[in-house]
Amino acid sequence: MQQRRSASAVASDKTPLLTVQGLRKDFSTWRHSTPLAVDDVSFHLPRHGTTSLVGESGSGKSTTARLILGLERLDSGSVLFDGQDISRVSRRDWLALRRRIQVVYQNPYASLNPRLSLEQIISEPLQAFDIGDPAWRKQRAATLLEQVELPARLLGSQPVALSGGQRQRVAIARALALEPQLLVLDEPLSALDASIQGQILKLLADLQARLGLSYLFISHDLAVVRQISDHVVVMRGGKVVEQGACEQIFTAPGSDYTRSLLADIPGRLLEVG
Ligand SMILES: Nc1ncnc2c1ncn2[C@@H]1O[C@H](COP(=O)(O)OP(=O)(O)O)[C@@H](O)[C@H]1O
Ligand SMILES: [Mg+2]
Repeated sequence: MQQRRSASAVASDKTPLLTVQGLRKDFSTWRHSTPLAVDDVSFHLPRHGTTSLVGESGSGKSTTARLILGLERLDSGSVLFDGQDISRVSRRDWLALRRRIQVVYQNPYASLNPRLSLEQIISEPLQAFDIGDPAWRKQRAATLLEQVELPARLLGSQPVALSGGQRQRVAIARALALEPQLLVLDEPLSALDASIQGQILKLLADLQARLGLSYLFISHDLAVVRQISDHVVVMRGGKVVEQGACEQIFTAPGSDYTRSLLADIPGRLLEVG
């Protein structure tokens, strides 16, 4: 089993794993001016903890994530990962850093190649980084499947044989293949049935406890966010409306916008236990 969390490392390192400072992204073109997609966004993400970005559709959550992942160029600001400025390191150092940050998207129907077996899907990142030989990668894929609580006998199956929840487990297994420290989870539950969401949420919590992972969790669903977050960043129109400790945001919101989001939480409680 992967195990990177040692008692001494946790105790001695209180600095955030990720610090985002003054992030800005403008998608305007010379013919078409648009509001800033991300406008002076700053927050931090604790080691082995979860920071959530919440807000209505179009508030800049995914763009913020894409800037952190280097999938969009930032116009200004900085992204410090484990003390290194991702936007200013050499290409080689960037690749090494980027390995330590993996991503899980919303729709596991679109994100898994339907022509590949689960073994191929999960070991793809290992192959891309030329890690291990085929036999070792197969073994590793089996271990990763078990880590997301799927039986290793599914290795030869294709995504079509799986339910939505099982597919999202496979996407998580693939994201864990390179032993990342940070998972960016962009609406990872939104495509799943409510009954399945709680199971995936519990898996994420278990993996975090076992592997010492940090999560950047993106969601418009505050009921989910309340259960998984340490730190909550509320966004609207590309800006941070407010941020703070999870309980503070939920019990003593400091803005009308957050209060209106809280009022929209349906009267359901996800079954996590
Ligand atoms: N590649 C792009 N080109 C132009 N505009 C974009 C692009 N990506 C996102 N946007 C715009 O940026 C804003 C924020 O979008 P997004 O980050 O996807 O929000 P969210 O994830 O919170 O729904 C939206 O107005 C969206 O239309
Ligand atoms: Mg989005």
